[in-house]
Amino acid sequence: MSPQLDLTAFRQTLGRFPCGVTVVTTRLGAEDHAITASAFSSVSLDPPLVLICVDRKNRFHDAVLASGEWAVSVLAESAQNAATWFATRGRPLAGQLDKVDHRRGVLTGAGLVREALAWLECRTWRVYEGGDHSILVGEVLGAQINAERDNPLLYYRSHYGALLHSAANEKSTLVVRDSIVEDAVAYPGLPPTSEEAPSA
Ligand SMILES: Cc1cc2nc3c(=O)[nH]c(=O)nc-3n(C[C@H](O)[C@H](O)[C@H](O)COP(=O)(O)O)c2cc1C
Repeated sequence: MSPQLDLTAFRQTLGRFPCGVTVVTTRLGAEDHAITASAFSSVSLDPPLVLICVDRKNRFHDAVLASGEWAVSVLAESAQNAATWFATRGRPLAGQLDKVDHRRGVLTGAGLVREALAWLECRTWRVYEGGDHSILVGEVLGAQINAERDNPLLYYRSHYGALLHSAANEKSTLVVRDSIVEDAVAYPGLPPTSEEAPSA
C-alpha cells in the first residue's frame, strides 16, 4: 500500500460517491443468504453482464460462490428497513427473508425484495480477485422492472437518502448548475468561454 495514502481520506472519498442500494440474494440448498450491496454495476450489454463486489468476510461470499446463481433487487426508497436488515452483521440466517416482503425468482429460486424498482437474476460468469473482496460478474438470465415504484433508495456518506422529484427541485438543480458554470469560468486554469474569448 502506498505510504502516501491516507486511509481515512480514502474511505471519506468513497463515501462521497452517491449510489443506489441493492439486496443480493442466493439460495444454497434450503438456506437463503443475502446482503445489502452498493457495489453493483452494469458491465456489458452483449453478452448481458453485471457485477457485484462481495467482502470475503461475509457469510454470503462462500454461499454465492458455491451456488453460482444470485438475484439483485434494486431497492425502492420504501425498502430502507430491508437495507438495514440485510446489512446487520450476525443476524440469524434461518428465516432472514421472512422479515421482508419477498417472492422467489422463477429462474434461480433466490429471494426478490418486493419493495424494489427492478430485479435481475444472474448466473456467475467469472470471478476475479479484488483485494479483500471478490468481484462476481454475472450473466443476466432475467430482468424485470416494477412499474409501481419509481423512487430509488440512495446512499451517500453513510446515510440513506431519496431523490426529489418536485418542480421546485428542478429549479434548484438549475441554480446549482449555474453556480458550477460560474465557478468554472472563475477558475484561471480553464480556457475562456465563447462569451469571454476576444473576437478575431
Ligand atoms: C449501504 C450498504 C452497502 C453495502 N454494500 C456492500 C457491498 O457492496 N458488498 C459487500 O460485501 N458488503 C456490503 N455491505 C455490507 C453487507 O451488507 C453486510 O456485511 C452484511 O451483513 C453481510 O451479511 P452476511 O454476513 O450474512 O454475509 C453494505 C452495507 C451497507 C449498509
